[in-house]
Amino acid sequence: MAFMLKINGTPHEVDVDGDTPLLWVLRDVLGMTGTKFGCGQALCGACTGMTTSTPPCRAMSADAAPISASALRSSHAAGV
Ligand code: FES
Repeated sequence: MAFMLKINGTPHEVDVDGDTPLLWVLRDVLGMTGTKFGCGQALCGACTGMTTSTPPCRAMSADAAPISASALRSSHAAGV
């Protein structure tokens, strides 16, 4: 499934299964390693991303495709 993700103001076209966790799209597909895998249970916040249309998302538990309807701000741009 191909779709567009706008991250830190830049559009990125990705082609992954729609239920691929956003964290793996960011890290493995786009090489944006600023967003981390921590607890794996949506508790620590290491994988948090800010979106324009929804509350902050935990990227390890959020499917990437629905996020494509909004813009995402990840910690990648901050060099974290
Ligand atoms: S890995 Fe801990 S909240 Fe996502």
